[in-house]
Amino acid sequence: MRTTQSLVAMLLCSAVLMLPGSAAAQATGSEEPTFASDVAPILYESCIKCHRTGQIAPMSLITYQEVRPWARSIKNKVETRAMPPWHLDRRIGIQVFKNDPSLTDEQIATIVTWVDNGAPQGNPADTPTPPEFAPADAWQIGEPDLVVRFPAYTVPDAGPDIFGNLLTEFGLDEDRYITAIQTRPVGDSSRRVVHHALSYAVEQNEEGESMGGGLFLVEYASGKQAEIYPPGSGLLLPGNTQARLSFHLHSIGEEIDAAMELGINFLPKGTEPEFIRYSKQLGGSQGQIIGVLDIPAGETTRSDGYTRFNKAARITMFQPHMHMLGRYQCIEFIYPTQPVRAETVNCAGFDYNWHMNYNYADDTAPLIPAGTILHVTSWLDNSTNNRGNIDPSNWVGSGQRTIDEMAFAWIGWYDLTDEEYEAEVAARQESRQKAEN
Ligand code: HEC
Repeated sequence: MRTTQSLVAMLLCSAVLMLPGSAAAQATGSEEPTFASDVAPILYESCIKCHRTGQIAPMSLITYQEVRPWARSIKNKVETRAMPPWHLDRRIGIQVFKNDPSLTDEQIATIVTWVDNGAPQGNPADTPTPPEFAPADAWQIGEPDLVVRFPAYTVPDAGPDIFGNLLTEFGLDEDRYITAIQTRPVGDSSRRVVHHALSYAVEQNEEGESMGGGLFLVEYASGKQAEIYPPGSGLLLPGNTQARLSFHLHSIGEEIDAAMELGINFLPKGTEPEFIRYSKQLGGSQGQIIGVLDIPAGETTRSDGYTRFNKAARITMFQPHMHMLGRYQCIEFIYPTQPVRAETVNCAGFDYNWHMNYNYADDTAPLIPAGTILHVTSWLDNSTNNRGNIDPSNWVGSGQRTIDEMAFAWIGWYDLTDEEYEAEVAARQESRQKAEN
């Protein structure tokens, strides 16, 4: 009884303390949140990089007038954690990432309460100034050492989405190490038609023909453009390779010549980084990069693929990759121990419209000993339950076209020597122990 009373007293007390000043209200979760004081700061931090004019989201969420008609829908999307997009399964595995955009439970509660109270504006003068964004076409990596422009592609005023590839030369005859890289649509009109684009370095055969596939360099999607690698690390760009841009463009009601370019910064010629960053398509079934798939009409199938790491490694990133039928993927490590131990590291939902990178935080990045096997499990749904499925009455197999399927994971990692691995594991244990004490 006594404890209950003092608890109530405490709650009352903190409610009173909360009244003056919106900063305090925000920190503790106001009972009467307003747009100006409580909701706008959340939207500006977590939503408007996409939800503003000229970006990928369907509506701008900056002013009260813009936000008010969407209040119900916003409540629904944040309560279900559909927005901001982050498809990681929260029940399984590692949960701390460098790029997790999720709202806190408290922020969600603030938005829900605000909508339930009729979405009041509050005092307009309390609305913070929205953050300034760099112009969408600015180089975020400084003036690049090398700019590679792909041939322009004419996107008609109307029509289905366009998927394809463009090739151009890097013009490098020796290996270089990339320290930062960015894809940039050239000009505002290009930016409006580019849905997303992936860049690769493609080897040529002796006849100078492109070998397809290639080494993945960087992804472009609105809101995500530049990659700057941590100090001491670099991504190998092999000499004499071609640049391939795999694109997804869409029509916007007027004909547009879409142009894209890659900006790249390098380590000085002849120098090697301490750590080489790899990014590869791993875990396709039957040892094939894209996997061997056999998906009967109307059914959900599961694909399993395995890749052995011959050296110890620090895993920095994973990104599930499937096409329209992809629904869910898990990555597991099978350690070279006796008895064998396996661990599900992460699982994530999949939606073909979103190619999400999960970048591990420095102190959660998996450290794996040499001989560890990566096991990738992917679920592909060819039934009517899958809204992304264009034709549930057809068999689907693996292939390059959008209507074919793929199932693998993009994995980013650095090789470690056995000594580096032991040292990193020891350092990790030490810092965890410190944190616990
Ligand atoms: C990475 C970009 C991005 C971020 C960040 C983002 N959104 Fe979205 N949002 C989109 C896109 C694209 C769509 C439309 C396609 C879809 O629903 O997947 C969308 C759709 C929505 C919709 C549904 C619109 C409709 O037509 O019904 C709501 C509501 C919404 N977002 C709210 C938010 C809120 C609130 C936040 C921040 C807490 C947020 N979004 C963060 C990109 C984003």
